Amino acid sequence: MDPQKRELLDLVVRWVHMIAGIMWVGNSMLFNWLDRNLEKKAGRGPLHVGEIWMLHSGGFYQVEKKFLGPGEMPEILHWFKWQAYTTWITGFCLLGIVYYMGGGAYLVDGSGNITAHQGTLIGLGMLAGGFFSYDLLWRSPLAKAAEGLCHVLTLVIVAAGMYVAFHYLSGRAAYMHTGAMLGTIMAGNVFFHIIPSQRELVAATTEGRDQDLSYSNRAKQRSIHNNYFTFPVLFVMVSNHFAITYGNRHAAAILVIIMVTGALCRHILNIRFHFGEWRVAFFGTIAACIGLLLVLTRPPPQTAKVPTYNELYAVLQARCVPCHAEHPTDPTQNAPPKGIVFDTPEHVKQHATNIYTQAVVSRAMPLGNRTHITDEERNAIGAWFSEGAKVE
Ligand code: HEC
Repeated sequence: MDPQKRELLDLVVRWVHMIAGIMWVGNSMLFNWLDRNLEKKAGRGPLHVGEIWMLHSGGFYQVEKKFLGPGEMPEILHWFKWQAYTTWITGFCLLGIVYYMGGGAYLVDGSGNITAHQGTLIGLGMLAGGFFSYDLLWRSPLAKAAEGLCHVLTLVIVAAGMYVAFHYLSGRAAYMHTGAMLGTIMAGNVFFHIIPSQRELVAATTEGRDQDLSYSNRAKQRSIHNNYFTFPVLFVMVSNHFAITYGNRHAAAILVIIMVTGALCRHILNIRFHFGEWRVAFFGTIAACIGLLLVLTRPPPQTAKVPTYNELYAVLQARCVPCHAEHPTDPTQNAPPKGIVFDTPEHVKQHATNIYTQAVVSRAMPLGNRTHITDEERNAIGAWFSEGAKVE
């Protein structure tokens, strides 16, 4: 597909993905919060679970959670499922548009170990393998007998997926595929467990029989998992803006730290209603995360000899200009990426900070290291920048 159409397709699908994702997460956060704040009222009968009053844009809302007797099923009952399905479907399309099409420029690193085609199969394998191993694990008898062990094994599955991703794919694609694997598990939980359990509840109520609790127990378990995956996945969704994370030499460790922080913050927010010290725990967790990130994303110390401008430009010419030129010679680009070109000393001067950030601090450039820049050359760019980025 030509780049113009691909970019427009990216725009439309990403926009829908974002809207659906906000609706899905927003709904699930609201219902989680509702469930934790319901108050049980006296004298409302055995079917009453709890009630809450809320205020929102110009009106009072009284919401009651309860079971229904046979024949009490309301005519109109609102389900919330398309937000989840739409988020997953558009996310899956985005993986295709950004990573699998266009020669795999964002998908594989430039080491030439694997082709874009193999990278695509690895990416898809991760999504399917991650979901099915997680799902089988939690369907197995182990889920009842040893829940703690299953939690550990779930982390092992995620770690195995990450190992594959970081081993074969570019840092940016590894991040996105880790998030997509968790997102697939979340959408799968909705499709295979949470919605069927709601269907069972409706059927049992209509038929006036007790509901089969095995559905709802499993759905509850899966929705707790989804709750903990939310913050980590939200970070991954925006991670491609932060080359300092996925482009870093410690990219995998940084992702683990951020995901653990996200899940811990979610946990603290979940228990805050009966955990007095939650603010200390919450801000302490965030501060610890920021501290670790400050250490891990430190730019490397400059020990290299300062290159002359001509030496520096030779590096840019070989490693960057194949893409960053008026007419790129790299087959993955047919216009200068982000309009950035390095053809005159003035352009180099203008972009000096960004060159340093992208090539030395975050190592996001050259894209997928397609042009095989060496560590010595990165160090030379670093030394040139810290000595004032001179262009004569
Ligand atoms: C294989 C093609 C390719 C090569 C080689 C390449 N770049 Fe890029 N560069 C890109 C693409 C594509 C983008 C846009 C990235 C995006 O959309 O996230 C980009 C973006 C950038 C940006 C803008 C980043 C921002 O978001 O502000 C800078 C600066 C940059 N590159 C510097 C370099 C430097 C320095 C080199 C050489 C060391 C280099 N690039 C080599 C493809 C390349």
